[in-house]
Amino acid sequence: MEDAAPVASRHETIQIGLRAILPAFAGGAVKRRRVPMALAERFQADRAAIRLLTRLRERHGPGPLRLRVPKRSVAVVLAPGDVGRLLRESPEPFTPDSVEKHAALGKFQPHGVLISRGPERAARRNWNEAVLEQHRPLHHLAPALLPVLNEEVDRLTETVDRRRELDWRRFDQAWQRTVRLLVFGEPAREDRELIAALDSLRRSGNWAYLGRPRTRARAAFAARLRRALAEAGPGTLAEAIRDEASNGAVHPEDQVAHWLFAFDAAGIAVARTLAVLAVHPGHRLAALNELAAEDPAEPAELPFLRACVLESLRLWPTTPLILRDSTAETRWGATRLPAGTSFVVYTPLFHRDPARPYADRFAPDIWLDGTAREDPSLVPFSGGPARCPGRNLALFCATGALARLLREREWRLTSPSPLYTGRPAPATLDHFGLAFRPEPARQPLLGAAPHGDANRHSTSRATGTHTSAASG
Ligand code: HEM
Repeated sequence: MEDAAPVASRHETIQIGLRAILPAFAGGAVKRRRVPMALAERFQADRAAIRLLTRLRERHGPGPLRLRVPKRSVAVVLAPGDVGRLLRESPEPFTPDSVEKHAALGKFQPHGVLISRGPERAARRNWNEAVLEQHRPLHHLAPALLPVLNEEVDRLTETVDRRRELDWRRFDQAWQRTVRLLVFGEPAREDRELIAALDSLRRSGNWAYLGRPRTRARAAFAARLRRALAEAGPGTLAEAIRDEASNGAVHPEDQVAHWLFAFDAAGIAVARTLAVLAVHPGHRLAALNELAAEDPAEPAELPFLRACVLESLRLWPTTPLILRDSTAETRWGATRLPAGTSFVVYTPLFHRDPARPYADRFAPDIWLDGTAREDPSLVPFSGGPARCPGRNLALFCATGALARLLREREWRLTSPSPLYTGRPAPATLDHFGLAFRPEPARQPLLGAAPHGDANRHSTSRATGTHTSAASG
């Protein structure tokens, strides 16, 4: 005997659309937008969406919950185990090449692996895994990439010292330059036009199928990218590409277009981790202690700092919506959903589930003690066969930049952000609004007991600054 899948009412469907799906798209699914991000933080948009979906899970059961959308089968995933299944069973029968993603990413990477299927997807996936060295915590090029990260952070710190403030605009300019150097090397150091061309296509991607086609602009961008790859120097990711065989299906320039886009998430994670460490002095001290035991000129895995980056991505996932379309009818308990169903995973629902003891707390240890590994729904880098193949490389670059920033200065959070010592982490954190004041770095105390610091530090909301008794 078959049960009918639970279906949201029309009102509930509209609520889900307005509170969970629309804000994620309005904030810019492909290229983040400043004003919607500021508004989302102001109204803590993610909190409202988490509450709504938690209520609907209580009302309708663990789902997946079908939405009332004309001419489409759309279901929101509500159970952690179902997130695990959806990701484990990708790309068949759950393809990452969803209708919406295809329209959005197709604007600048029509042959990107994430929007590919069948043998083409397999060839592109294998190529990405090989070049990005998905399974190695430290890429074989790490010794060449680390000096770039160190030098560019030093250059940034010098500028910031003169102006006494590090804001997002300055950080992002430096990060974009660093990414160009990591991927293409010196010839692309000042090639801002390459990124401007990509950004323009990404902005069109924000509109998915509503935007106009950009065929000529995309062809010009691809040609420019191929040139940059051909001219790239040694010790760059472009060199790794030249060393990797590829068949005609791969289109390396489209895979690299995805990388350039994805490196934005790593930059956002660096800024947010710096901010969260500014209000968690005990954790900052633990990170400094870890750094004190390493040679700054040698690539190192830095497990604790990595865990801090992962934790900032749990608290504020840069991919809040993971989408999969089913290629066949699928069974969910006693119910079935038709082929062509679009499954929506709203990751903050799981990352911040109020039932988790660490839901709104900065708890990097969950990435070290097995808690996160055992949970199939903590997925800042997605999971299963289509998980992010750049995870290790992104974490290496993010921790490398953070390590240098933390070694060189103490960063005080000066922006009126909702992050405060001893308070629950805000559900939404606008990275555009973050600003820091550099102060001379203090020596770490090797061997200090660093973690449970939260309530020992004070906060001043009146001045809009974020202070801590321990580090002040
Ligand atoms: C903090 C930084 C990053 C985060 C949080 C992140 C997260 C993700 C997520 C969630 C997905 C899956 C998307 C989906 O299923 O719809 C993904 C896919 C992917 N990412 Fe990343 N990513 C990051 C950085 C990078 C970097 C730096 C690269 C390359 C240099 C990269 C390469 C890729 C590729 C190629 C895919 C597509 C995988 C496939 O379709 O099989 N990512 N990433």
